[in-house]
Amino acid sequence: MSTRIATVFGGIGQQGSAVVHAILKDGTFTPRAVTRDVNSDSARALVKLGAEVVAANLGDKEAVKKAVTGAEAIFLVTIPFDPSLPEIAQGTNVIDASKGAGVRFVVFSTLPDVSELSKGKYTNAVQSDEKAKVQRYLEASGLADASIATGGFFENVLKPFLGHSWEKTDNGYILPTIMRPNAPTVQTWIGHDMGPAVLALFKQCDSRASEILGQTFVLGSARMTYEDFAAELSQGLGQPIQLKFAGRVGFHAADDMLDAMTEFTFYPGVSIPDPRLEKLGVKTGTVEEFGRTLLKSYLAEL
Ligand SMILES: NC(=O)c1ccc[n+]([C@@H]2O[C@H](COP(=O)([O-])OP(=O)(O)OC[C@H]3O[C@@H](n4cnc5c(N)ncnc54)[C@H](OP(=O)(O)O)[C@@H]3O)[C@@H](O)[C@H]2O)c1
Repeated sequence: MSTRIATVFGGIGQQGSAVVHAILKDGTFTPRAVTRDVNSDSARALVKLGAEVVAANLGDKEAVKKAVTGAEAIFLVTIPFDPSLPEIAQGTNVIDASKGAGVRFVVFSTLPDVSELSKGKYTNAVQSDEKAKVQRYLEASGLADASIATGGFFENVLKPFLGHSWEKTDNGYILPTIMRPNAPTVQTWIGHDMGPAVLALFKQCDSRASEILGQTFVLGSARMTYEDFAAELSQGLGQPIQLKFAGRVGFHAADDMLDAMTEFTFYPGVSIPDPRLEKLGVKTGTVEEFGRTLLKSYLAEL
């Protein structure tokens, strides 16, 4: 087992576990997955695979300090909508502790500042604006850093999202969605691509520092409308998929985010897949492959 430790916050969650699994498969580092419950089945399963698993709440500075001590690299995911623990506090706790512990490199999972991008029109997308604040704090911290911006997760279709889930029809499926029609947005396959992307940055942050440090990479397979996303999913699935657009859902953070995504281009000027990640060896998966594999299995069990 490698003595080089990489601490992964949210290590049991979608993004973090993708990173933990990629690190385990590669072997350069030993992953240290952070969770609030080290006794969960998922935590125990990671230990069996060779990961360290440690307990820390992102609001607990002492526990966060222990989680980063001895680590060379950090992957940080912050979690929105907890009024008692804003994302900026989660982020500053990890960044301050990392600096104090002499961590060499931090990768942050980010989103754009929607208030700024929309010039003050959409100010409720706190899940995005707060991440942008954390990113700015990280960039000003003096730590070696990079950020990975994500699009909408492919995996959102594998669970009810704000109460919306699949309906079976006579010859296919209906996918109710809160996404907006005719809005080209970045689509990201977290389980396939977040692990290799973070690992590529961890492994090359010294040898290719000028290409990595201080950069905001955009992780995605394509920038596409949800209509095109559903069409490609349908190709993989081998069955028709009809979209049912829900329109505004009354949850202001989601509505503002989706309205802003419709009206403004996120990450303008970056083609998707991001060529900078491709140069570092990251090859993103396709929507068709996701439809043919994970979506097909998921729908078979509904
Ligand atoms: N869904 C999308 O399309 C989309 C798109 C862009 C960005 N995002 C962002 O993705 C993030 C969610 O990532 P995900 O899907 O990987 O999340 P997830 O699967 O829900 O996992 C969240 C992880 O965070 C941990 N966590 C939650 N609160 C914590 C706390 N107070 N202290 C320590 N750990 C805590 C949980 O750990 P435990 O093991 O302790 O429970 C869990 O492992 C959000 O910030 C969201 O804004 C989502």
